[in-house]
Amino acid sequence: MISVKKLLAIAIMSAISTTVVNAASNEALVKEGRKVFVTKKQGNCLACHAVQGDPSIPQTGDIGPKLANLDAYPKAYLFEKIWDPNKTVPNTLMPPMGRSHKITKHQIDALVAYLQATTKSK
Ligand code: HEC
Repeated sequence: MISVKKLLAIAIMSAISTTVVNAASNEALVKEGRKVFVTKKQGNCLACHAVQGDPSIPQTGDIGPKLANLDAYPKAYLFEKIWDPNKTVPNTLMPPMGRSHKITKHQIDALVAYLQATTKSK
């Protein structure tokens, strides 16, 4: 018979390792999101946006607002914003890169992870 103590220890260990795995996979997603953001044939978001908290991005894009404090938005809002910005701002200059299949849903998830991690309000 396996003891209650042992079961508890197993449950705690697996909770800890899940947290570590989640942190690692979010880090990978953030890295991927940055790449989509700067890559011309992918998001090319830097053409229009500067990014608070990431000085490695050229801060010259000024057609759209400087992206800041985006951790204040729900993830789903940002996903929708990138999928089709016309839904929140009709006739916006921002292209609907998800709806037009220029970038994938996974790439949008990565962009959201990158933007929320980078532009955190302190
Ligand atoms: C052609 C220029 C252009 C490109 C390219 C562009 N955007 Fe935008 N973006 C805008 C403009 C203009 C706005 C402001 C109007 C609006 O909200 O639609 C905006 C707004 C946003 C907002 C809302 C910001 C806020 O504070 O509410 C987010 C988030 C965003 N863009 C992310 C992105 C991402 C990620 C990409 C790349 C996939 C991207 N944008 C590409 C022009 C652009």
